[in-house]
Amino acid sequence: MALNIRENEPLSRHTTLRVGGPARYWVEVAGEAELREAAAWAADASLPLFVLGGGSNVLASDHGFPGVVVHMASRGATFADVGGAYVRVIAEAGEEWDALVAEAVERNLAGWETMALIPGTLGGAVAGNIGAYGAEIKDTLEWVEAMNRRDGKLARFSLADCQMQYRHSFFKTPAGREWAVVRASFLLQRGAPPRLDYPELRARLTSPKPTLAEVRQTVIHIRQAKLPDWQKVGTAGSFFKNLRLDPEDFQQLRRRYPELPGYAEADGRIKVPLGYILDKICGLRGWGWGKVRFHERQALVLINEGGTAADIAQLAHEAARRVREATGLAIEWEVEPLGDWERPPA
Ligand code: EPU
Repeated sequence: MALNIRENEPLSRHTTLRVGGPARYWVEVAGEAELREAAAWAADASLPLFVLGGGSNVLASDHGFPGVVVHMASRGATFADVGGAYVRVIAEAGEEWDALVAEAVERNLAGWETMALIPGTLGGAVAGNIGAYGAEIKDTLEWVEAMNRRDGKLARFSLADCQMQYRHSFFKTPAGREWAVVRASFLLQRGAPPRLDYPELRARLTSPKPTLAEVRQTVIHIRQAKLPDWQKVGTAGSFFKNLRLDPEDFQQLRRRYPELPGYAEADGRIKVPLGYILDKICGLRGWGWGKVRFHERQALVLINEGGTAADIAQLAHEAARRVREATGLAIEWEVEPLGDWERPPA
């Protein structure tokens, strides 16, 4: 099999922030066999390898990437009844996440309806344990099959093996980087009621017993009103992670900012929306310079209209500095830096 390799492919064409210099080599793989071949080729040439899905959560350096970027373009999803009301969905890593959500809702399968309109691929969704309005990938995930980049062997990871956390999984750890997600299996429930944990979502629904399709539509409306359209401007959704604080730290901060929202998590920590801090405490909503700024309607979202990766990193650093100054808190990027950086950007 001959691999389809391009040289010096601009990463700005393949990332939703629309920045990034050339990938020295760019390989689009249609499935498992090509992925294995591409990984072996990169290893033989002693080149670093990066596996890219939809490019919706990365900040690619203006200097590009001095190795091989593999673009997962594998397609396919199967839906099979497994007894009771459960349906097993097995989807390939290159499938578009939002299309899978639409298909599941169409088939009256509950579990993903609140995660509509999130850009990116299934592989990226699994690795980043994406979530919205109270649901996360981990809630329906059964297992993941991933390929070891060194020997090309496939292994199955149980949900526990995946070590899912808030916007994080085994596949984002240094050991997990040895693996590329190939496909994943989920259990969805036919006819189950939609998930309505999130007050803002509940408040927007008019019917007392909304259908999955109504919930999906409502989420789409909320997101369209609040988030920029990634087809039109450069964005990666939330640029930073929300904060998870110890109760004492939260109370201390709340003494200074009595309106600060906080939601208790299962492990006792308090989730604090960083968007609130950036906006109401630091005044950064709509703030920026040149061609990069924080979104007017959601301060957690960075927008790029023709700036560089360096501009974006600089704006993010400045925001982090201001948050530290106002609150003493260190914030983390949700977006993943990719490529050659003179200093680590995150
Ligand atoms: N807020 C402000 N000003 C802002 C932004 C937010 O005051 O400019 C406050 C509001 O009080 C709001 C609260 O922050 O009620 C939370 O904001 P929002 O509901 O918009 O959600 P978020 O915490 O900013 C997270 C996810 C989103 C996801 C939404 C809905 C992260 C980092 N982000 O955002 O995911 O869509 O919840 O569930 O967890 C993404 O990860 O890329 C993403 C868009």
